[in-house]
Amino acid sequence: MDARQLKIEAARVALDHVANGDRLGIGTGSTAEEFVRLLAQKVATGLKVTGVPTSERTAALCTELGVPLSTLDETPELDLTIDGADEIDPALSLIKGGGGALLREKIVASASARMIVIADRSKLVDALGRFPLPIEVNRFGLRATEIAIRAASAKIGLSGPLDLRMTAGVPFVTDGGHFILDASFGRIPDPRALSNVLHAIPGVVEHGLFIGLASMAIIAGGDGVETIKPAR
Ligand code: A5P
Repeated sequence: MDARQLKIEAARVALDHVANGDRLGIGTGSTAEEFVRLLAQKVATGLKVTGVPTSERTAALCTELGVPLSTLDETPELDLTIDGADEIDPALSLIKGGGGALLREKIVASASARMIVIADRSKLVDALGRFPLPIEVNRFGLRATEIAIRAASAKIGLSGPLDLRMTAGVPFVTDGGHFILDASFGRIPDPRALSNVLHAIPGVVEHGLFIGLASMAIIAGGDGVETIKPAR
């Protein structure tokens, strides 16, 4: 089975968790897009949902395919969010933000009673950190924030390249108007400690560590789809 088919399989199983009338957070990325395509087919045959997208990109796809949308201001409490991830550890802590939507993704997931992560098996890791951690930062004071991130992460024993994300030769700008620094710290033994030190830096808007948000992961591999609950 190719990579796209695995994403479709995970998305198909996730769709079974969507109930009629759900207020639904809708993630961003190639796996979430497969979910949107399947969701749109169900909506076309009568499923009622109120979707809240986690990015302009997802909003555009939902609109194109006829998935009804609301905003988080209109619908501030959600039943379920379904989203992809860049890495998933056994506690279902995640790295997200490879697609640059981490801030809205985290706000939407936090406003949801449940979050289901969908992915292919390549995203499962023993410990987070192989994938560079996206850190969304204010444009103002970029260099100072970068220095502060280096100092704070060094205090908990982490270091490595901190790269300003670029697209077509210019800095990538998030839907919120911020920049992203991709931190290649390597293995992150204590994601909570890193989260805490990053949140203490004023120029850091948000980071891509999602801790305690996912209630289930639906993982597709060549030999089938497995459902994982967090190992506590
Ligand atoms: C978007 O900002 C990300 O958090 C995505 O959810 C994550 O990068 C997974 O994307 P793919 O499904 O494309 O791998």
